[in-house]
Amino acid sequence: MSKTLLFPPSFAWGVATSAFQIEGAASADGKGPSIWDTFSHRAGTVIDASNGDVACDHYHRYADDVALMADLHVDAYRFSMAWARVQPDGKGAWNEAGFAFYSRLLDALAARGIAAHLTLYHWDLPQGLQDDGGWLNRDTAYRFADYAAEVARRFGHRVATISTHNEPWCTANLGYGNGQFAPGVADAKQAIQVSHHLLLSHGLAMTAMRAVGSAAQLGIVLNQWTADPATDSQADRDMAAFEYAHSVQWFMDPIFKGRYPELALRIHGENAPDVHDGDFKIICQPIDFLGCNFYRRTWCSAAVPPVPPPAEHGVTDMDWEIYPQGLTDLLLQLDAEYDLPPVYIMENGMANHDVLVDGGVPDLARIDYVQRHLQALLRAMEHGVDVRGYFLWSLLDNFEWNSGYAKRFGIVHVDYATQQRTLKDSAIWYRGFIDEQRERR
Ligand code: FCB
Repeated sequence: MSKTLLFPPSFAWGVATSAFQIEGAASADGKGPSIWDTFSHRAGTVIDASNGDVACDHYHRYADDVALMADLHVDAYRFSMAWARVQPDGKGAWNEAGFAFYSRLLDALAARGIAAHLTLYHWDLPQGLQDDGGWLNRDTAYRFADYAAEVARRFGHRVATISTHNEPWCTANLGYGNGQFAPGVADAKQAIQVSHHLLLSHGLAMTAMRAVGSAAQLGIVLNQWTADPATDSQADRDMAAFEYAHSVQWFMDPIFKGRYPELALRIHGENAPDVHDGDFKIICQPIDFLGCNFYRRTWCSAAVPPVPPPAEHGVTDMDWEIYPQGLTDLLLQLDAEYDLPPVYIMENGMANHDVLVDGGVPDLARIDYVQRHLQALLRAMEHGVDVRGYFLWSLLDNFEWNSGYAKRFGIVHVDYATQQRTLKDSAIWYRGFIDEQRERR
């Protein structure tokens, strides 16, 4: 199947991870605690009662992991910085040992010719800021901008891109809406206010990074999906329209149009956020790229019990419907609605019930998933959407938030008892696919 796919020569092929999910070394070299350290140590939060204390021990094994990436022939690596590693309290003193770790990582990537794509915030707020109210406190947005400026000042010339946030939808709706993620608050009004502070912090950080003259491309990564009504009924169509407005347009409209979508505001009613004069001016400024994470569509059925999705290509180990066409649909929809900058698919991949068999992992379902999504991506590009790169989630099996280590998303298998890394068949396939694309360059 891959033989039929032909991406542009400059297209970047990458893998993605995030700090809390792989680094471990939870308190090494002066790192402060983050909300995920606190949350995962609280009973009943993570299904296998695990935490990120050790994870993939990437903090100590980063050089081997970079060698692994080089062995997979990837062009690019997307990772996040643990804010509490470089500023233990989220305000005040910087931790030089923390910056030194990321500097060593960047050196190792540069030595292998792998472009670095850095995310500033992948959900691990310093606990010190949570103690001051976390993202519900407007002041956290200003602390974030200080952190962003410092990172851009130090590393802005050594990385290809800097993303302010990863999936603010999750920070707000899972962290504050249903309490599944840190800090574990379940309060719809707070979730909406938090989403506004996240957007504000994005805008403040963009301004602050540009002020220090960062050479990196600057943008944000959103998790996005189409919302498809299960039937043609008015109820299903209304549900889909609200879902799309609340999840996708809620973040895109402020950034690209300087306002919240009317429909979502109307439905949120008195839960609508407190917006200060001038906030939209800060939020709505050009971004150099849009990062898009795509896993599945949202299937909207108002019926009781709901009409299940067709799942023609099955479901993943997370029970997420596999629907590659959704990626084409989403990109075309976004392209029609907004004046998009270049797009990167910053995450795409699947959890699979992977088992080691004779020293290998035959994860054929994952190969199929990725191939189908790449086909879908190419279809969108053929229709004119400007996509510059694709990052497979994830390089390694890792700490999958409230699913702990029970769900495996890696193309490289991790034995958590020994930290042994084993290439899955999908990793071997991905390397072959990248080679094939490169031969055509
Ligand atoms: C995304 C997250 C990433 C990982 C994947 C499976 O929402 O950004 O950390 O959990 O899902």
